[in-house]
Amino acid sequence: MKLKIALLPGDGIGPEVIAQAVACLQAVEDTFGHQFIFSKAPVGATAMDETGDPLPEDTLALCKRSDAVLFGAIGDPRYDNDPNAKIRPEQGLLRLRKELGLFSNIRPVKVFPTLISNSPLRKEIISGTDFVIYRELTGGIYFGEKYRSEDGSTASDLCLYTEPEISRIAHLAFKAAKKRRKKLTLVDKANVLESSRLWRHVVTKIGESYPEVALNYLFVDNAAMQIILNPSQFDVILTENMFGDILSDEGSVIGGSIGLLPSASVGDKYSMFEPIHGSFPQGAGKNIANPIASILSAAMLLDHFGLKEETDAVVKSVNLSLKNGIVTPDLKAKSQYGTDDVGHFIASHISDADDYRGLNRENIGLGKSTII
Ligand code: IPM
Ligand code: MG
Repeated sequence: MKLKIALLPGDGIGPEVIAQAVACLQAVEDTFGHQFIFSKAPVGATAMDETGDPLPEDTLALCKRSDAVLFGAIGDPRYDNDPNAKIRPEQGLLRLRKELGLFSNIRPVKVFPTLISNSPLRKEIISGTDFVIYRELTGGIYFGEKYRSEDGSTASDLCLYTEPEISRIAHLAFKAAKKRRKKLTLVDKANVLESSRLWRHVVTKIGESYPEVALNYLFVDNAAMQIILNPSQFDVILTENMFGDILSDEGSVIGGSIGLLPSASVGDKYSMFEPIHGSFPQGAGKNIANPIASILSAAMLLDHFGLKEETDAVVKSVNLSLKNGIVTPDLKAKSQYGTDDVGHFIASHISDADDYRGLNRENIGLGKSTII
C-alpha cells in the first residue's frame, strides 16, 4: 500500500516521540513491502516561532493532500501562564481538528498485564480493563461562541450541539460496540444541561437501530468515580468534547502512565493519529519521553487503513518491550533506557516479535540487533 503521511511533531517532546513512531512505520514498510511517504510541517508554538501562526496555511494544505496525519504534541509554558496571550499553540490543534472535520476521537484504555503494578490503583480493581472512549471532537464548549466583557470582568463559553453532530459519532460508537462486548455508556450531565438532554434523546433514538447493543447512561460526575472504582464495567463510552477530554486523562491513570495511550481522530474524509499526552516541556530534549503512545498511534493509523497484520506486529513488538523491561523512566524509575532505545527496540522487532527468544541487552543502545 502507498500512503502519504503528514508528520506534525509539534512542541516539547513531540519531535522525539514522532521520530520513534516513524522508525516503526519504516520497519513496517520494509517488513510488509509498503511505501509510506512522509512530509513534515510545523504546528503549535514551534510554528508560531517560525511564522506567527500555530497552524500555517502550508501545514493545513499538506494535511489535506495527505492520506493521514501523525501528530506529536502541542503546548508551551510561555503561553500557559499568560492569560492575556491572544494566540495560543492549542488553537493550531483545534483549528486542525475543525478544518479536517475530525469529529470522532477514539481513545482506547487498556491495561497491559505486564504493567499492572505500575498503576496507582489496586490490581484487583484494574485487571481486565478494556474500554474505548468515543469523544466528540469538533463541537461543544470548545467551539461555541466565546465572550469577554469589555471591562474583562465577565466571560462565557457556549456549549452548543446539533442533532447531526451527535448522531454521526453515535453511529460510529454503536458500530464499535457491536464489534466489541456490545455495551455502550453515554456519559452526560442530563440532570443539569440542556445540551446533554439532546444527547440522550438522539442517542436513545439511534440505539433502537442497534438492538444487540445494551445502552446505559451515566452522569459525568458518577462516571468519573466509576472509572476508577470499577473500570472493567465499561466497553464503549460515548461522550461530548470536554467530558471526553477529562475522562480520557483520568483513564490514563489506570494503565500506569499517560505515555502509553494512543488516539485516532477521524472524520468523513481525513484522519489523524496522536498520543493523548501533552508536550511535557520539562522532558523535552532529555531522551526520557515514552514513545509508546505515539507508536501505538501509528498502529491505529495502520489499522484504520485495514492493515491488520501490520497493526498486530507493532502491538506485539510494543508488548515485547514492556515484557522485557525495555521502558522509559515513567514506567521504571531507574530505567537506563531512553526514548530512542525503546523506539529502536520496538522498530527492530516488528519483523520478528513472534519468534523472539531473548535479548542481548548490551546492544540495545548501540543500534545493533538485540537478538541473542
Ligand atoms: C487533548 C488535549 C487538547 C484538548 C488540548 C491540547 C487542546 O488536552 O487532545 O486531550 O483539550 O483537546
Ligand atoms: Mg486532553
